[in-house]
Amino acid sequence: MNEIIVYGTCYGSAKQYADELSCRTGAKCVSCEDAGGLSSYDKIVYIGSLYAGGVLGMKTTLGTLKNWESKQIVIATVGLADTTDEENVRNIRAAMKRQLPAGMMEHARLVHLRGGIDYSRLSAKHKFMMKLLYEKVKKQPPEKQTADTRAMIDTYGQVVDFVDLSRVDELL
Ligand SMILES: Cc1cc2nc3c(=O)[nH]c(=O)nc-3n(C[C@H](O)[C@H](O)[C@H](O)COP(=O)(O)O)c2cc1C
Repeated sequence: MNEIIVYGTCYGSAKQYADELSCRTGAKCVSCEDAGGLSSYDKIVYIGSLYAGGVLGMKTTLGTLKNWESKQIVIATVGLADTTDEENVRNIRAAMKRQLPAGMMEHARLVHLRGGIDYSRLSAKHKFMMKLLYEKVKKQPPEKQTADTRAMIDTYGQVVDFVDLSRVDELL
């Protein structure tokens, strides 16, 4: 099968998963910025990191794909949110649906992976966005805070790494 892995990353977590999958399958692995036309591939694995609910590069890469109904499509998101929490998964999927052509989400296999964050490496824009979020969640009364928001408060400014390359099995 003619297969390609495409990733959208800012700081490397999504690429770590894409590289691991490429090692295991031998499939070509490219950044979404270099992907170009994908119409010749039978199977496309898209691995994109979550930024404010959006999956980096996914809309540009998969939104313009022709004949996707006849292809195998796997979409993996990479984010900080705990993906064993069903509400988090529902939120990720609701946002994804708005970024994909009608019907593609139902056609694709979806996997939700976890990444990491190193605040010292963030761009000024991302540092500012995280600061705004931190200040907002810090003001919430404890009963309104979720495990994720509490984890965000506890780890704000630090290095967090939830990357688990063994989960690449779920993409095979
Ligand atoms: C500005 C900003 C917004 C983010 N938004 C989300 C989000 O909506 N959901 C989530 O689960 N993680 C979110 N994250 C965490 C990233 O998805 C996580 O750090 C991921 O591992 C980054 O992937 P990358 O290293 O491939 O760029 C956000 C991080 C930043 C800096």
